[in-house]
Amino acid sequence: MGKPLIVTIDGPAGVGKSTMAKRLARLLGIPYLDTGAMFRSVAWKLGQGAWDWPEPKLEQALAGFEYGLSGEGEDSVLSLNGAPIGDEIRTEEVGMWASNVATLPVIRTFLKRAQQRLGERFSLVAEGRDMGTVVFPDAPHKFFLDASVEERARRRFLQLRDMGKPADRAALEAQIARRDAQDRNRAVAPLKAADDAVVIDTTAMDREQVLAALKEAVA
Ligand code: DC
Repeated sequence: MGKPLIVTIDGPAGVGKSTMAKRLARLLGIPYLDTGAMFRSVAWKLGQGAWDWPEPKLEQALAGFEYGLSGEGEDSVLSLNGAPIGDEIRTEEVGMWASNVATLPVIRTFLKRAQQRLGERFSLVAEGRDMGTVVFPDAPHKFFLDASVEERARRRFLQLRDMGKPADRAALEAQIARRDAQDRNRAVAPLKAADDAVVIDTTAMDREQVLAALKEAVA
């Protein structure tokens, strides 16, 4: 068996990384790895305020976390201790908790190892904030997707509206901007494009155009 193929997609909150990662993974016939879901699941399991816990307590809690991955494309399933990670982690509040725990080196080190172990077993489209810079620095294909905060808030607003969930556009914009600032400015593995990443500003592009650009670069 050859070495697994790793494609990385990094970028800020709400830029459409998951959608693109799923679709690109489908085209390549491999799973996609949503690393934001790993940070969200840690935050969700440990609960609000866990970011203030002492390191030994965090380490002890993390020792019981085992991630698994199956399926491919949009049917990829990320599981924690045998149970698929569900939609309970998909709120902007849990996103902020995830961003909080993601500032802690002890959490990042643990999840980095878990991500790298999955990358040894599977070819992956891995999406997150530090895939191309820290977790898979040798990946042959790296992308960084960006878009203005207004556009990202607009997309999230439409997504929530389509799901029948009421949302406040100005509040979404403020939440996204706050999370971005924390993700970009943290000391460990901050959000940024790898030097060798293909940077795509998607502000004025639709999904098909972004997917076409990714496909072309990977081909
Ligand atoms: O992509 P997301 O919105 O699900 O990510 C939630 C938070 O997790 C994000 O605000 C920061 C953190 N995160 C990270 O620090 N590194 C990653 N590779 C993925 C997510």
